[in-house]
Amino acid sequence: MIGIGIWLVLSYNKLGVFTLSTRSKRYYKIITYGCQMNEHDAEVLAGQLEELDYLPTEEENRADLIILVTCAVREHAEQRVYGKIGELYRLKQANPNLVLAVGGCMSQQSEVAKKLKQRFPYLDIIFGTHNLADFPDLLRAAAESQETVMEIWDREGEVREHLPRVRQDGLKAWTTIMYGCNNFCTYCIVPYVRGRERSRQPESIIAEVRELVDRGYKEVSLLGQNVNSYGKDLGRDYDFADLLYAVNETGIERIRFTTSHPKDISPRLIEAMAKCEHVMEHLHLPVQAGSNRILRAMNRRYTRERYLELIEQIRKAVPNITLTTDVIVGFPGETEEDFADTLSLVETVRYDAAFTFAYSPRGGTPAAKMQEQVPEAVRKDRLLRLIELQNRISLERNQELIGGEQELLVEGPSKNDPDKLTGRTRGNKLVHFVGAEGLTGQIVQVRITDAQTWNLFGELI
Ligand code: SAH
Ligand code: SF4
Ligand code: F3S
Repeated sequence: MIGIGIWLVLSYNKLGVFTLSTRSKRYYKIITYGCQMNEHDAEVLAGQLEELDYLPTEEENRADLIILVTCAVREHAEQRVYGKIGELYRLKQANPNLVLAVGGCMSQQSEVAKKLKQRFPYLDIIFGTHNLADFPDLLRAAAESQETVMEIWDREGEVREHLPRVRQDGLKAWTTIMYGCNNFCTYCIVPYVRGRERSRQPESIIAEVRELVDRGYKEVSLLGQNVNSYGKDLGRDYDFADLLYAVNETGIERIRFTTSHPKDISPRLIEAMAKCEHVMEHLHLPVQAGSNRILRAMNRRYTRERYLELIEQIRKAVPNITLTTDVIVGFPGETEEDFADTLSLVETVRYDAAFTFAYSPRGGTPAAKMQEQVPEAVRKDRLLRLIELQNRISLERNQELIGGEQELLVEGPSKNDPDKLTGRTRGNKLVHFVGAEGLTGQIVQVRITDAQTWNLFGELI
């Protein structure tokens, strides 16, 4: 149908209604949950749809195709998706030609996919995280089928290069450098839904970053579940530090990366961070817990002492680095004493910010089967105490910057205050300041004048 301005759609849809419609354009909307892996996948899906002449729309009731790219990392994420699919039923009734597809990490788990199919028989397509490149085929299959089309490979395929992509922003881009995870932290679903570690070839990554530079992008974030083990599967002598040195030479202004696993941070990597002027002074280093007993039960493969030693080495090599982390409270068996170890570690490191989570049992992971699950009320109480501590520290860390200078990449008008612009420091902190809109995309210097827990305020110098 590509290239034809108007066409007829004649079909039985999933609600069993015989439909005929005359349309001139087809619109899609992708709703993404979870982490940047899903953002990346959504960009690949969008790229394929636009090759099929679909146009993007923000409005759900205008869409001919709605795709949910789901996250399974915590129960809350899944609940949101179930709620959304339920809500979309209304649209499906109003427009029987609407195609509804669910992909991402929830549908990659075959038991969850079956449950989705049973509970929501009006879904047209359910597809897994390894089936992105087949989406156009699934769309065709769905047009010819009255049943839900399900395609879930239980194994990852080869790394696919050169799939078309639509990037959202013109300033900052994500570049996935590796897929999957080999770590099997005992609480985590990711290795089950994203497969084993597969690194992209450095040449492809570098070519992609060069292209971003040519298109005017200023910042790239190198992405993987555990970027520090980049290259181990390539069968050549090339690691993440080598990649950082190479990307540093591409002409891109700012380089960030996430996520780092403490067990794989090497002295070479710390040295690369210190030496590469385009690598930003920010490290996200998830600690998860401060008690050695819990770290062992989580299969994190480092101790509290080793983690603190790493922090010291990094701060020595890269002074004033922004440090952020992820923490889980209420992991099975966590006692009040274990939790006190987490609080004291957070006090010791004094992170700039932390993503804090109450443990959420995930079916199929070892931790979900452990005895001594911590009652929900206790998990919630610990979470609140941790957040309170971290908020105090975040504010103090931000206040320490008042009076000093910061280099910002200007991102555009502030969402909260239309009279101001926002930019990010090299350490990834958000700064609001007064300036001309034409500064968007430029690097400027500001003096910090005020600080809150989540933002800074500054003036141009
Ligand atoms: N690969 C990254 C991120 C994984 S998911 C890493 O290793 O850090 C992001 C965060 O979600 C994790 O760091 C962890 O803090 C949290 N998380 C993962 N599984 C969880 C679970 N079952 N319950 C609560 N938090 C979880
Ligand atoms: Fe999950 Fe651990 Fe892998 Fe991160 S490193 S994705 S927490 S298994
Ligand atoms: Fe969620 Fe999948 Fe990312 S489970 S956190 S979207 S890898």
